[in-house]
Amino acid sequence: MTGRAVVKGVGHYLPARVVPNSEFEKTLDTSDEWIRSRSGIERRHFSAEGETTSDLATNAAKAALDDAGMSADQIDAIILATSTADLTFPSAATMVQARLGMTGGFAFDVQAVCAGFVYALSNANALIVSGQARRVLVIGAETFSRIMDWTDRSTCVLFGDGAGAVVLEAEEGTGTPEDRGILAVDLNSDGRYRDLLYVDGGVSTQTTGYLRMQGNQVFRHAVEKLAQTAENALEKAGLSSSDVDWIVPHQANIRIIQGTAKKMGLPMEKVVITVQDHGNTSAASIPLALSVGKQRGQIKKGDLVVTEAIGGGLAWGAVVLRW
Ligand SMILES: CC(C)(COP(=O)(O)OP(=O)(O)OC[C@H]1O[C@@H](n2cnc3c(N)ncnc32)[C@H](O)[C@@H]1OP(=O)(O)O)[C@@H](O)C(=O)NCCC(=O)NCCS
Repeated sequence: MTGRAVVKGVGHYLPARVVPNSEFEKTLDTSDEWIRSRSGIERRHFSAEGETTSDLATNAAKAALDDAGMSADQIDAIILATSTADLTFPSAATMVQARLGMTGGFAFDVQAVCAGFVYALSNANALIVSGQARRVLVIGAETFSRIMDWTDRSTCVLFGDGAGAVVLEAEEGTGTPEDRGILAVDLNSDGRYRDLLYVDGGVSTQTTGYLRMQGNQVFRHAVEKLAQTAENALEKAGLSSSDVDWIVPHQANIRIIQGTAKKMGLPMEKVVITVQDHGNTSAASIPLALSVGKQRGQIKKGDLVVTEAIGGGLAWGAVVLRW
């Protein structure tokens, strides 16, 4: 028998304010047509003033717990992937823990930018498989609107705010790829590429800073590294691209998503796409897409799902799981 971390619930939350591309035409030399054709993005959500990452995360967590039919006191651990925590410390995860009324267990944040949710899933899987936790709430939540330079048209039109969450629970599997749950993980980072995507401020420099990106360079790395990490994870699971029911990619850019699917030899009908409605929500994008994909009736029990993401670091990775 093999311990498996199985998804028991999924949910998401988006802030109320929807901002269409046309909004940026008022203040920047840009157009709806340029943004759509270069990125696939049509609109995104922005948090209201005072609405923080832990607010979004708490709402997504409640939705995932409802979907799982579980209460917060049944959860052993919360892992929250974010690069935009409310405060330097405590972690946003502990804020969510308190808001959910959880007085036991433990909670912490994971910071791997857009790859954050994949890293968090990997950590949750390790906790479950090693017996340190039975039920883990894994959240991706971001307020990237807070780190946008609104005068930089090459970045501020691409990002959005939101949160998604899954509840994982330990189950005994047979050790074969037919098991439900997380089957394999592949994580990577290469700090030599830090200048391609970063925020030019932080606590230790006593500034907040804004997101800076060499978009075309990130693009070049993305397609190659994402297809490779997804294939590595599939191989570790004893599977291949032809076994995949759904790719649930980090939603940064439709052209990256298309390029990755093509490199993997998969048709776009097997890809869950939400980038048009959410923009790039960094660590929130994959759990948002999982939740929307389930709501749409795309992802069903028993489906083989591959999530893959890349972001600042560079950090990238993939998780293969059976829903
Ligand atoms: C950002 C991105 C959409 C730009 O598309 P691109 O085809 O690479 O475009 P380039 O960066 O080469 O820029 C082409 C031109 O468009 C301009 N441009 C940039 N943003 C623009 C905007 N919002 N509106 C209009 N023009 C814009 C550039 O200034 C440049 O003009 P120039 O040729 O006069 O200098 C694309 O590179 C991308 O998506 N990269 C990956 C980014 C990403 O997903 N990052 C997150 C990973 S987690």
